[in-house]
Amino acid sequence: MSNTNNTNSENLTAASGKPISGIIFLVGYMGCGKSTKAKQLAHRLDCPVIDLDAEIVAKTGKSIAEYFAEFGEGGFRDYESEMLKTFDYPKTCVVATGGGLPCFFDNMEWMNAHGETVYLQMEPAALVSRLHNRQKRPLIKDLTDEQLLVFIQEKLQERDPFYTQAKLIVDAFDLDGEKLEAALKA
Ligand code: S3P
Repeated sequence: MSNTNNTNSENLTAASGKPISGIIFLVGYMGCGKSTKAKQLAHRLDCPVIDLDAEIVAKTGKSIAEYFAEFGEGGFRDYESEMLKTFDYPKTCVVATGGGLPCFFDNMEWMNAHGETVYLQMEPAALVSRLHNRQKRPLIKDLTDEQLLVFIQEKLQERDPFYTQAKLIVDAFDLDGEKLEAALKA
């Protein structure tokens, strides 16, 4: 009886793919759903979720918009890179990163060296339709929908060479935690 059970559980593990462990960094443009999908995936893996922007807010006591206003984008990029590299990550966790983080310094290389990296890819028009609340995002807060579309198209050209260094690229449209977990296991 116990033999049968063992065989069944081995088969189940094999059927569901390799177990997921380590640090999983989600990268991608603002609005692609990194924070939501990080929470869903962490829930499925029963591990902690870390949102690096939220950690910056918690540590500095300033919103991202306030931090930009006080220290400029350069100051913010220094701080987010330091946060990325000094955070005390649990052994297994899912990390939502800020949209610009992979594109500065050696951050993308660092994430690839320290864990799994997943690019949540989405078309510019889909990103625009998801970026209604722009006030908390200083880089786009004053743009109309038309201006935002052009801005995203240009930014993605600059950023794609960094994002596409991720070990895994998934279509973020219609993605949920279950599909993300399956993609990581495949
Ligand atoms: C930024 C994205 C934001 C935040 C900051 C800059 C960017 O994070 O880090 O406003 O340069 O794309 P989200 O992608 O979570 O909105």
